[in-house]
Amino acid sequence: MSFADGDLSRIVVGVDGTPESRHAVAWALDEAARRKEAVELVHAYEYPPPLLPFYDAATELGEDHLREVARDAMAREAADAAAREPGVPVTGQVRAGAPIEVLLDAARGARLLVVATRGIGALGELVVGSTGTALAGQAACPVVIVPSPNEAGTGTERGPVVVGVDGSAHGQAALHQAMEAASLHGRTVVVVHAWHPVPGGLSASAAAQQRRFRADEVSHQLLVSETLAGEGQRFPEVAVTARVVQDHPVRALLDAGRRASLIVVGARGTGGYPGLALGSVALGVLHHATCPVCVVPD
Ligand SMILES: Nc1ncnc2c1ncn2[C@@H]1O[C@H](COP(=O)(O)OP(=O)(O)OP(=O)(O)O)[C@@H](O)[C@H]1O
Ligand SMILES: [Mg+2]
Repeated sequence: MSFADGDLSRIVVGVDGTPESRHAVAWALDEAARRKEAVELVHAYEYPPPLLPFYDAATELGEDHLREVARDAMAREAADAAAREPGVPVTGQVRAGAPIEVLLDAARGARLLVVATRGIGALGELVVGSTGTALAGQAACPVVIVPSPNEAGTGTERGPVVVGVDGSAHGQAALHQAMEAASLHGRTVVVVHAWHPVPGGLSASAAAQQRRFRADEVSHQLLVSETLAGEGQRFPEVAVTARVVQDHPVRALLDAGRRASLIVVGARGTGGYPGLALGSVALGVLHHATCPVCVVPD
């Protein structure tokens, strides 16, 4: 059984039998239990197969046999997942094709797409640079990238949800996602907005530079209050703190996110080259965060 496209109440997880992907499944199960939604495990198989635990010594097998091996493995994964969170409906499906295309297709109309940082595909640690990045840049739904258990900071499950805002529609969508996640999990939200003073020109007096700096600072604080206004009313139960800091946005987000349970960013922001799927801030956070990162399309 699989869920119909457009069913907003399912969370899709990319699964490949690695401990990393099981950790991503555990994250998705917890989220689904709180949202009262279903989890759909999806495995993409390719023939000939890459060397993945799903297949063990199955690489010598023909395609039909390989599909059976994948289906059996998926049935076990789905049964394990269902046993872990009995209140959550779990289904598993195996589809032929490259992981990126299969997962993008499976996630069409889903609430969330969840993948492990590493483990999907044969590229090992390059995976954040390929599968995770491609999915985060292209999926129509928010994508959560869950680090392997040994990478994740310990004791951060109850930490705040940290979100980056930059005045863009993507940042606004990220804030909405963060507020919703915080409300569901009973967390606080830390809103981060990083900025840099624009140099005032060599001829500007120290006093003029200082005035300009203050004016810039106020306008950045204003940007954050305007971004927050509607969401604060929508989620009055969520305590929010804002950090308007002079820093590089990636560093500011990672710094604020050190004890976070989740960091949320938009896929794109206010700037950048139109052809890019992911902005540099989103990419930087994705590469360096030690907690799950949620990348939100606008
Ligand atoms: N100055 C910032 N402070 C806080 N968060 C930010 C800032 N800039 C970007 N972000 C976060 O990162 C997300 C992605 O924006 P990013 O800057 O990566 O894309 P871009 O502006 O399209 O491209 P680039 O800045 O690389 O040219 C934003 O939606 C927001 O969540
Ligand atoms: Mg930007």
